Amino acid sequence: MHVYDLIVHSLTYFQRDKQDRRRLICAVATEPLPKQVEESKMDAPKEIFLKDYKLPDYYFDSVDLTFLLGDEKTIVSSKITVLPRVEGSSSPLVLDGADLKLLSVKVNGEELKNGDYHLESRHLTILSPPSGKFTLEIVTEIYPQKNTSLEGLYKSSGNFCTQCEAEGFRKITYYQDRPDIMAKYTVRIEADKSLYPVLLSNGNLLEQGDLEGGKHYVLWEDPFKKPCYLFALVAGQLESRDDMFVTRSGRNVSLRIWTPAQDVPKTAHAMYSLKAAMKWDEDVFGLEYDLDLFNIVAVPDFDMGAMENKSLNIFNSKLVLASPETASDADYAAILRVIGHEYFHNWTGNRVTCRDWFQLSLKEGLTVFRDQEFSSDMGSRTVKRISDVSRLRISQFPQDAGPMAHPVQPHSYIKMDNFYTVTVYQKGAEAVRMYKTLLGSQGFRKGMDLYFKRHDGQAVTCEDFFAAMRDANDADFANFLQWYSQAGTPLVKVTSSYDAEAHTFTLKFSQEVPPTPGQPVKEPMFIPVVLGLLDTSGKDMPLSSVYHDGALKSIASGSQPAYSTILRVTKVRAHR
Ligand code: PHE
Ligand code: ZN
Repeated sequence: MHVYDLIVHSLTYFQRDKQDRRRLICAVATEPLPKQVEESKMDAPKEIFLKDYKLPDYYFDSVDLTFLLGDEKTIVSSKITVLPRVEGSSSPLVLDGADLKLLSVKVNGEELKNGDYHLESRHLTILSPPSGKFTLEIVTEIYPQKNTSLEGLYKSSGNFCTQCEAEGFRKITYYQDRPDIMAKYTVRIEADKSLYPVLLSNGNLLEQGDLEGGKHYVLWEDPFKKPCYLFALVAGQLESRDDMFVTRSGRNVSLRIWTPAQDVPKTAHAMYSLKAAMKWDEDVFGLEYDLDLFNIVAVPDFDMGAMENKSLNIFNSKLVLASPETASDADYAAILRVIGHEYFHNWTGNRVTCRDWFQLSLKEGLTVFRDQEFSSDMGSRTVKRISDVSRLRISQFPQDAGPMAHPVQPHSYIKMDNFYTVTVYQKGAEAVRMYKTLLGSQGFRKGMDLYFKRHDGQAVTCEDFFAAMRDANDADFANFLQWYSQAGTPLVKVTSSYDAEAHTFTLKFSQEVPPTPGQPVKEPMFIPVVLGLLDTSGKDMPLSSVYHDGALKSIASGSQPAYSTILRVTKVRAHR
């Protein structure tokens, strides 16, 4: 594969890598995990629909996890404070789980007996929970050293590490593994001190100390509510490059990038990128980092590019490590882009997260847009835009034109892992870019500010983002949401004529959205078109007025002429 391809298609590249690995694993046929529970029809792949979304019956308020990391098995204890959504209801509480050995379940300190719960291969159901607030304690045994799925808790080059997005947390303990369950976590980790000197999780380090038998422990607390897909744990022999960032309100943030000792010298560019990203988010969006510590860990075995776990980002080594002897310009650019991307998720993804996985583009489209803008501001805006557009045309247009075409906000899925696509990421970023085109930088910023004001600490939808952009600007976005629900690349045709006597330039637009699988008939889209005119010498021509929806509108601002204007193509055919 050409180096350029690798950068352009990094997402698909990693996905292909994952499929290859799965095939490899099947071929090697490792010993199966112990079967503890009855198989059920629940195992058959099931299609999940956006329209079937239901609020959870129970919320989780706090989660205390304890990990006893061992080389044969790991014991995970969780203590969850559970609140029914509707006071007094005691409907069954269904928890997700996969590849777990259940050791015990307690409700309000009382061990449950066989008839009190129902265990299937992928669910644990507490049949009649107490009607008010209660505590649920679950102990499971897991086998990270045998976990080759790279989801949940697994070992990579001798170190423990986790990957929970999208649905990996259920391989650690029984839980409501869905992003609208947001809780505060504490995490205690115990492990052998010489094998695993570094023990990391989300948030702030509260305590650490030695234990008997050559072991030690740490206690982490994350003060921010988060969905379980942002949980992370890393344990092993790692060294760090340490630095510091002072936020604009004067708080000191410790920055650490963790790798095996020999790789620490290769993390200089990653650290530069992190500090640049932190500064940029303050300058451009007024967004400050919210904890005293930010960790990045580079691991050699990692399916995707990187993961934005709260304050503990985990990266595929190739997106952190660079040395001037071997790294290309494109390698440096990819590190800047992905370090920025994961850092920016702290606000767009973590502080405000997705209600369900159909909303993936809410965080990914927006965060790709933000990393594109960051790379533009750090380098050449024009070069960056050309490369982003060619990436879209090379890899997203074919997806939209083929059998895998799906909307930015899909209507259904069978396996969520398959939805990390160029459509959700790159086309989703273009939808966000259109808000900025329509509203200008200041209007877009007003929309972002309102989005955070309304939704900080919540799990929300693409429609909520749309509403924040619209309401902050009193804007009329007509049928803009089609960009989220309708698949396919619209084809726009334009013809033009100029009336020299009347000084009037006329454009005729028509648009057509091709049919895609499951969507044979399409509605017209809202297509913003930025228009400017050049004279024969290539200079911008002043524009005085434009016909808009049949009415003549002046576009000069005061005595200043305008050099460009935004046309709104909303119908199948339109004259401007
Ligand atoms: N959320 C990650 C990102 O885009 C991508 C990812 C998805 C990583 C699923 C691992 C698993 O920043
Ligand atoms: Zn992302």
